[in-house]
Amino acid sequence: MTTIAICNLKGGTGKTTTAIFLAYALTRTGDTVTVVDADPQGSATEWAARAEDKGTPFPFTVEPGNARSLARSAAKAEWTLIDCPPGTAQIIDAAVAIADHVIIPTRPSGIEIDRMWEALDLSAQKNPKILMTSIICGTKSLNSLQNALQAEEVDTYGSAIRQREAIKNSFGYPLEDDLYGYEAVAKELKAITGK
Ligand SMILES: Nc1ncnc2c1ncn2[C@@H]1O[C@H](COP(=O)(O)OP(=O)(O)O)[C@@H](O)[C@H]1O
Ligand SMILES: [Mg+2]
Repeated sequence: MTTIAICNLKGGTGKTTTAIFLAYALTRTGDTVTVVDADPQGSATEWAARAEDKGTPFPFTVEPGNARSLARSAAKAEWTLIDCPPGTAQIIDAAVAIADHVIIPTRPSGIEIDRMWEALDLSAQKNPKILMTSIICGTKSLNSLQNALQAEEVDTYGSAIRQREAIKNSFGYPLEDDLYGYEAVAKELKAITGK
């Protein structure tokens, strides 16, 4: 059983998207997954409910979690992916405390690069790794993010997720064949965690 906290103190960095796409990618390689929706806004739960309403439920469980229930949720499947809320430190701390590894989705924008350091600091004991999300190749902002990561020798996933309409429009629907690069992230995740 491996527990992954997906966190960033900033909202809108791709945490929920990463949790759902990665859960699909891991499920497709035959693994069992639970997504713990630790964000009181409940976006992951809402996404799962909408897919189910369309008659196409997710091939994994999405359940709500709070600081106290996290450890119990983490014992149910081969992978537990905790979709963390922004801001609220207590839940993020609890998620990081039980995690084997921390993924920090980060978009290439100045404010996100600023907040990225805080997430790296608070998860420093748990082998955190940046996942670049919503990137547009050849842009100055991507270049600045890559320079910052290289200058500080920050661990970063080799696969990055491009900005795509298809990803944006996937909320509320089950995912189709193409997971837009998250298959490669799942592969790296397995290599990192030795699974
Ligand atoms: N790679 C991507 N390309 C385009 N839109 C994206 C991508 N990743 C996330 N988004 C969109 O960005 C918004 C924020 O993503 P979300 O996963 O909800 O972030 P968070 O959970 O960190 O708040 C959502 O509208 C989502 O659909
Ligand atoms: Mg979210």
